[in-house]
Amino acid sequence: TYIVTDACVRCKFMDCVEVCPVDCFYEGENFLVINPDECIDCGVCEPECPIDAIKPDTEDEADGKWLRINAEYAKVWPNITVKGEPPADRADFERETGKFEKYFS
Ligand code: SF4
Ligand code: F3S
Repeated sequence: TYIVTDACVRCKFMDCVEVCPVDCFYEGENFLVINPDECIDCGVCEPECPIDAIKPDTEDEADGKWLRINAEYAKVWPNITVKGEPPADRADFERETGKFEKYFS
């Protein structure tokens, strides 16, 4: 499966959602996730993200943390299939790291 990682938090470009052939993105206020049970591993979304937030789960540098986060939030957030308006202040967060911990706790 592919997963969305920290770079997406508060940037949320949403260029990824419309290319997914199985519509398996789910939307929170500040972040998107992929449902690992629905992702068919096609890889089409990965190059769409302008800030490289999407990776195969084999490249989850945090020992499975991002896979767990994607699976957990995909259960509770609504499905998204159409690109919305990205946050106006997203440029302020593009180079920041550790955003999930800062903005989700
Ligand atoms: Fe959708 Fe393919 Fe990306 Fe999985 S890898 S989320 S199926 S576009
Ligand atoms: Fe996030 Fe990149 Fe999609 S910033 S919403 S994973 S295009």
